[in-house]
Amino acid sequence: MKETINLLKKHNELRVIDEELDIYLEIPHLGYAEVKKADGGDALLFTNVVDKKTGKKFQEPVLMNVFGSYKRCELLFGRTIESVADEITKLLHMKPPAGFMEKLSMASELFALKNIFPKRLKGEGECQEIKYLDDEVDLYKMPVLTTWEQDGGPFITMGQVYTQSLDGEMVNLGMYRLQVYDKNHLGMHWQIHKDSSHFFDQYQKAGKKMPVSIAIGGDPLYTWCATAPLPYGVNELLMYGLITKKPAQLVKSLTTPLYIPRDVDYVIEGWVDPSEMKIEGPFGDHTGYYTLEEPYPVMEVSAMSMKKERIFLATVVGKPPLEDKYMGWATGKIFFPLLKTTVPDLIDYHMPENAGFHNLILAKMQPLYKGHAKQFMHAFWGAGQMSFVKHAIFVDEKAPGLEEYEAFSEYILNRFSPKSMFITEGILDALDHSSPESLVGGKLGIDATVDNALEAPQLLDDDTLFARVKELVDDAKALQQYMTHTSNPITVISVNKTRKVKEYFDALVALSPHMRIVVFVDEQKNDVANPYMLVWRVTNNMDSQRDVFVSGLMVGIDGTNKNKLDGFVREWPDDVDCTVSVVEHLKKIGVWDLDETFYNKFQL
Ligand SMILES: Cc1cc2nc3c(=O)[nH]c(=O)nc-3n(C[C@H](O)[C@H](O)[C@H](O)COP(=O)(O)O)c2cc1C
Repeated sequence: MKETINLLKKHNELRVIDEELDIYLEIPHLGYAEVKKADGGDALLFTNVVDKKTGKKFQEPVLMNVFGSYKRCELLFGRTIESVADEITKLLHMKPPAGFMEKLSMASELFALKNIFPKRLKGEGECQEIKYLDDEVDLYKMPVLTTWEQDGGPFITMGQVYTQSLDGEMVNLGMYRLQVYDKNHLGMHWQIHKDSSHFFDQYQKAGKKMPVSIAIGGDPLYTWCATAPLPYGVNELLMYGLITKKPAQLVKSLTTPLYIPRDVDYVIEGWVDPSEMKIEGPFGDHTGYYTLEEPYPVMEVSAMSMKKERIFLATVVGKPPLEDKYMGWATGKIFFPLLKTTVPDLIDYHMPENAGFHNLILAKMQPLYKGHAKQFMHAFWGAGQMSFVKHAIFVDEKAPGLEEYEAFSEYILNRFSPKSMFITEGILDALDHSSPESLVGGKLGIDATVDNALEAPQLLDDDTLFARVKELVDDAKALQQYMTHTSNPITVISVNKTRKVKEYFDALVALSPHMRIVVFVDEQKNDVANPYMLVWRVTNNMDSQRDVFVSGLMVGIDGTNKNKLDGFVREWPDDVDCTVSVVEHLKKIGVWDLDETFYNKFQL
């Protein structure tokens, strides 16, 4: 971590904050504001960390937003992300060498590969300079942050969770948030689709306690590797070796059989009793909503160890953009060659930051036959964590760049008709709140590789159209049209919902000569003039099986919060919002320097 600090300082990527700040909300709020600045702001080092509730002052600083820019990601990788992706592509396409020179070059590549395997060292590591065993264990010795007002408690947000299969043959590294329940119990938020959860099932069936070791800090690349969606059974530390060309050096935990990198800042070890589950959450999550309380396994901590001089690494999630935008950017690029092995005609893909990754993917492909894009949709919805994707738009090779949002939207809307849509059902991220039931729900694919061009509607200006809408739907409160120069303009209408949105849509079919795609949002907390946050809201809130309506050429999308009117029986979570008094305090002491316009833009 010290090396990381020096690296960030050298590249002018670090802001040191010496003011006394609380682990409860204050530090995370500043981290949240910083990453919303253009290019992700700076990494933040908080040197004067306190727990105002207990009066405790922490010796160690807290580091946040370490991955929060493209530049910092590449600094921490020690190379360009492109070069990692190229290397993986090369490995996947290795052919027998043709001549002597090729043999030589292949030999050197293969020789470098020997370094990818983690190395188990004898003896203890720097991470074990200070040890606390049994009764000495106290998780409150660490500056664990409480990030949001409605959170169920403090959460470790950048924990590297090391687990192994019941037979010890497979080792996994995953990043899951960890709720601090008391001085020696942690909630293990490994979701049902994740590898550690599969290991947990094995221990549960065998009725045996599961060992877990959690590391915090060390080389930040361990933390990124923990988020990498490698297939079940593949140790994520191999990725560390591949990127750095150095094997991760591991030492044995003090009280579990698991090995952890010797240079991490903290280690928390313990055992999960598979017969005990405890309510986890709520937690203000990266969907921008709170995830609801649910039972998760609990770890009883048997030992804690740490470096004498250490830094506590953390992140904060909420509404976009977030630090995970940059981590996800690296992941997307590095996993592209692997995804291509399933869908070889894929040219590029991109997950817009404001759709919270799995809620929307844009993909460019080379369509070779009828139905090719649909084949890709099925492949995506069946491929590892890619199968969480709710909405996927496919375009052909002639489309503009996937990040040229204006031109890209224009391209799709000029080819779109209701025939372009394909709606089906599949698995969902455990965090999805919109589906009528958890874990499964609607999937919407749009095949814009085919040109289904329509005639443009007869446009009305916003005021005239709103007056006409108001005559039919009295609950309508505001209206704004987008992309009116295309054959499928998008009309966003905010409503004070007193009926099912489908009823509003049916009433508006009378205006179908003037509208094509109509998106409904709640009046509360939405601004029809803020497309960035509208994309966030609508892709989060909709379940395509329930919320997409078609009448002739007109398509309706219900992006409102669901409730009894919709027959929705699950709890609908609150938005993650900053605590006003905390922001005011941070402004008063002169550390909050976020432009006021950003406050509205990102609906803090
Ligand atoms: C900031 C951040 C927080 C995350 N929190 C969780 C979490 O609490 N639970 C979870 O299952 N996945 C979480 N993830 C995603 C996992 O790290 C990711 O799916 C990883 O590939 C899981 O590893 P595994 O497949 O080896 O289980 C988080 C990712 C990030 C970037």
